[in-house]
Amino acid sequence: MTESIAFPQDRTCPYHPPTGYAPIQESRPLARVSLYDGRKVWAVTGHHMARTLLTEPRLSSERDNDAFPSPTERFAKVRKRKIALLGVDDPLHNAQRRMLIPSFSVKRIAALRPRIQDTVDRLLDAMTEAGPSAELVEAFALPVPSMVICALLGVPYADHDFFEEQSRRLLRGPLPEDTQKARDALDAYFYALIDSKRKAPGDGLLDELIARQAEEGGPDDEELVSLATILLVAGHETTANMISLGTFTLLNHPEQLAELRADDSLMPAAVEELLRFLSIAEGLLRVATADIEVAGNTIRAGDGVVFSTSLINRDERAYPEAGELDWHRPVRHHLAFGFGVHQCLGQNLARTELDIALRSLFARLPGLRLACPPEEIPFKPGDTIQGMLELPVTW
Ligand code: HEM
Repeated sequence: MTESIAFPQDRTCPYHPPTGYAPIQESRPLARVSLYDGRKVWAVTGHHMARTLLTEPRLSSERDNDAFPSPTERFAKVRKRKIALLGVDDPLHNAQRRMLIPSFSVKRIAALRPRIQDTVDRLLDAMTEAGPSAELVEAFALPVPSMVICALLGVPYADHDFFEEQSRRLLRGPLPEDTQKARDALDAYFYALIDSKRKAPGDGLLDELIARQAEEGGPDDEELVSLATILLVAGHETTANMISLGTFTLLNHPEQLAELRADDSLMPAAVEELLRFLSIAEGLLRVATADIEVAGNTIRAGDGVVFSTSLINRDERAYPEAGELDWHRPVRHHLAFGFGVHQCLGQNLARTELDIALRSLFARLPGLRLACPPEEIPFKPGDTIQGMLELPVTW
């Protein structure tokens, strides 16, 4: 086993894993890494090992557990605040998930396609009218998923400046206290919204949950707020970053982009490959609740475990030439959406949004290109969801 390196680290290129991860890449499938506070935890880096351990019931997502690892000081500040689904184990996790699954089924999401297409078209209309240049994150990548998740939840999009700002503070600070303040602000916002919805119900998922509460006595308000927060934040931050980073990556791979422009039936495969290649949700977290023997090592009860999706999805044993962007490779399930019981609830929605957004963007703007050299474009630090901070484009 190699000497432990720091985790997480910043990427050196926005679409490749950090070069500083080379030592743990070589010691697949399991390595030791050091978190910001000096704590040593296990890093899972092998594809097969990740699938095994993400279905391991002795690895817990329960953030109340004092031994739960914190990858940043920001995270440590809010670790014990209740977060639905992502931060709880079965049976509570299962009960919460069952309430939401029907709203995210393939069929329900397929029915949203025309609405998503309409949102995308209107944003592209506005962008081309104001063009021929734009900052794509603000003009397109962020509003697409933000509008879609608002419509799905029944959250007024008019409040988007407020909650986009809170999500940004929640995930990126910069101060550790920002994360706490953002959680407070989102909690207060949702308590007020739930109150007003009780008086004047709408037709979103949040309204359905409020109606369920009235009929069945649950979920209680605290759980409702926590569910709304995770759905709102996970629903727009992740997809927005996939759109911006996906566009940047395609513009930096002109041959692949030309092929995609010539045959857009390749788009679903391209979306899947971009999800694998970019692995924007890096560093999934767990804590061991009992000793686990794996690959000649013992993960001890109380040990922290991080899953490096960017390395797992570049495991050469699962994906030969893993560092190449190639949507013709044989299908093999990537772990960009995680795996096991916590596997992304919104994956059907994310795939549909990405398909429509990228397809429409490149069809409407055949001359789309970066407005400055790629190395001048800022991207996000390694301790948050990966993506572009800005994306200046012209056409
Ligand atoms: C491309 C975009 C997205 C990516 C890469 C992504 C990635 C992930 C990953 C890796 C997990 C598992 C975390 C873990 O095991 O610790 C997850 C969970 C989750 N995601 Fe996504 N996600 C995306 C979009 C969405 C969208 C659009 C929603 C919409 C609501 C969403 C909602 C959730 C929720 C609620 C969970 C927690 C599920 C559970 O714990 O049972 N995600 N996501």
